[in-house]
Amino acid sequence: MVGKLVELKREIDINDLKDYILRNRFNSPILFIEKSNSIDDLVVEIASEVNMEIFQYGNKNYIEIRDVKFEAELHFDGITSPSVNRIPDIVIFEFPENPNSLSSNDFFYLVDGVRLAELLSYETKDFLLRNKLAIKGMQNKIRDDWEDNFEITLLNRDSSEEKVLGLIPTMDLSKLSVNDGWLCSSCEGVAFKFVNCTIEKTISVFFELHDLIKSNRDVVFRFVPQNGNLVVIDNKRIMHGRAYGGTPYRRLMRRTQLKLA
Ligand SMILES: [Fe+2]
Repeated sequence: MVGKLVELKREIDINDLKDYILRNRFNSPILFIEKSNSIDDLVVEIASEVNMEIFQYGNKNYIEIRDVKFEAELHFDGITSPSVNRIPDIVIFEFPENPNSLSSNDFFYLVDGVRLAELLSYETKDFLLRNKLAIKGMQNKIRDDWEDNFEITLLNRDSSEEKVLGLIPTMDLSKLSVNDGWLCSSCEGVAFKFVNCTIEKTISVFFELHDLIKSNRDVVFRFVPQNGNLVVIDNKRIMHGRAYGGTPYRRLMRRTQLKLA
C-alpha cells in the first residue's frame, strides 16, 4: 500500500491539478482542496496540454446541481453508461455556494474500492466474484436511454489489483428495508439483490461492507461541503455518495468529468 487516501491542500494551483490527474492519484486517490476559485480555465489549460477529453454539457465543461433532496447511494459516475467511453476517469466536484453549516450533517462520502477489497474476508471476496448484484430503479438524469435496471460484479479483479467498485446502498442502515425480496433504500428508491441469493445473504454482505467502511479510516473520507471546497477523485477507484436525511435545500455543486487518453 502506498500513499495516503487523501491529499489535502489549502488552495489549488495548476501544477497540483496536473500532477494529480497525470500521476498522483495512484498514491492518493482523493485530492481535497479547502478553498478554490472556479477551476474551469485550469481544466481547459491542462486538457490542451495532455490528451484529455472533458465531457460537455451543452456548451459547458461542467454541470451544475442545486437541489439537495435525498441521499445518493455510493457509486461511481457513469455506472449506467452502456459504453466504457462514457465513464470518466477523473471527477471534480466543486461547491461554490453552500449556505449550510458544518452541523447540517450533509455528508459527502468517498470510499476507496482498492482498500475496501483488501479488507474483505476470503469468503466474501469469493462470493462477490461469483455472484452478480442486480440493481433496479437507479436514477439517471443524464440520458434516457441508459439502463436503470442492470447487473454488476461488485468486486473487480484484473492482473494488477482488486477493487470494490459499483453501487452500494446508503450508509444509513435505518433507511433500508426489505420489499418483495429486494433490499430497498428509501433515500433514492434504488433496490438491490444478489442474483439467485437469499435476501439474508444480500443484507449480510452489505452490512459487512458498511462495517468495514465505517471502522477503517483509510477506506473512507467524509466531509460536509463548505463554500469553495473542491474535491478531485479517481472515478475508477473511489465511489462517492451522500448521506443526508434532512429537509430538502439548495446549494450549488459543479461537477466536471474527465477522460484520459
Ligand atoms: Fe455521481
